[in-house]
Amino acid sequence: QATSIPADRVPDMGKRELMNLLLLGALSLPTAGMLVPYATFFAPPGSGGSGGGTIAKDALGNDVIAAEWLKTHGPGDRTLTQGLKGDPTYLVVENDRTLATYGINAVCTHLGCVVPWNTAEKKFICPCHGSQYNNQGMVVRGPAPLSLALAHADIDEGKVLFVPWVETDFRTGEAPWWA
Ligand code: FES
Repeated sequence: QATSIPADRVPDMGKRELMNLLLLGALSLPTAGMLVPYATFFAPPGSGGSGGGTIAKDALGNDVIAAEWLKTHGPGDRTLTQGLKGDPTYLVVENDRTLATYGINAVCTHLGCVVPWNTAEKKFICPCHGSQYNNQGMVVRGPAPLSLALAHADIDEGKVLFVPWVETDFRTGEAPWWA
């Protein structure tokens, strides 16, 4: 397919430019071709058009409908859903029975165990090496070095939509380590 262009069809002035163009095309075409399946692979069906957001899924894999969720999850509840990149992410019900505008990524910042919510202690306590996080996921005891990551929990057409959290971590006042 890399046929050479007959010399008589190339104006003198443009020879070098044409060679550069061909070289550029040869380099960039395969690259562009590879990007398409790559991008498709990371965008699960149905997640398109939400500007990087992901609809929260419940334990059965169904979309989380905010109003339905609040019927079965009371004040203070923290229950795992599937969040951004498939990460286990807690949906938080505030004391006024509304959904918190943030979700808490359950992956322990020590070595990656999924951290369960302890209702009695009102903390997330990691079973692997005992790290503890407060009810907003801020680390309060090591060995975990960092707080649990946040995601925005928005409501889009009635469904809970997780969106990457790139702003200041409101718990620590610091830049988000995960962004
Ligand atoms: Fe959670 Fe080690 S993985 S404390």
